[in-house]
Amino acid sequence: MRRPLIAGNWKMHFTVPEGLEYALRLRREVERYASAVDVVILPPAVMLWEIANALRGCPIEIGAQNAAWEDQGPFTGEISPKMLAGWCHYVLIGHSERRQLFNETDEELNRKLQAALRHRLKVILAVGETLDEYEAGRTAEVITRQLDAAVYGVELESPIDLSIAYEPVWAIGTGRAATPDYANETMGLIRRLLEKSFKRLASEMRILYGGSVTPANARSLMEQSEIDGALVGGASLKAPDFTQIIQATVEVVQSQRV
Ligand code: PGA
Repeated sequence: MRRPLIAGNWKMHFTVPEGLEYALRLRREVERYASAVDVVILPPAVMLWEIANALRGCPIEIGAQNAAWEDQGPFTGEISPKMLAGWCHYVLIGHSERRQLFNETDEELNRKLQAALRHRLKVILAVGETLDEYEAGRTAEVITRQLDAAVYGVELESPIDLSIAYEPVWAIGTGRAATPDYANETMGLIRRLLEKSFKRLASEMRILYGGSVTPANARSLMEQSEIDGALVGGASLKAPDFTQIIQATVEVVQSQRV
């Protein structure tokens, strides 16, 4: 099994003091699992710096939920990968809310991905089909288009620099997670697409599942051969739930070692 990665996407939740307090609570509860899994939290940009300082020396890593494709310039409201470089570890690119609500295109996401890697940020690239696409049996076509476009021309130095989060849009925030078999099958396709672009690095790249991951379904998802972790939204906002998801992942890792 590849070393799992559990990422908590806070989206637009918490004030700065609340986020800081919550990060410190996670530090106490989650730190002990960090030898077996990589744990990343993705707080809103306004509190990233504060939380980075509060977690200094702690194995929990932090990431931004988005970053621009340019280093600087007249882009009101944006933050650039150059601003994150050196202290922020990860950036999430291509979340379906960015694609749908902010009209981010495949081409823009490709530029964002290249810019983030240039600044040595580790990227979690999200892909996933909508309900209509799912019902029309177009999942493979949509995933292929999104992934091929996003990684076009991208070269990786290390397989851990890029992880893919497969998030069926119909599973996000709905309480209706994909079945482990369905997720695993689509993630198998993602692995084959990565092999096409990144050759032998693909076998070491991590593919995460996202969409209504909870303590109740975490174990059955993590047991799948292609699932190397999770991108967790709602359940990452509650410390006991997020901790249990991490704990379930550690248990799966340990059971596979014996
Ligand atoms: P959810 O969100 O866990 O609340 O479904 C996942 C995500 O949007 O990354």
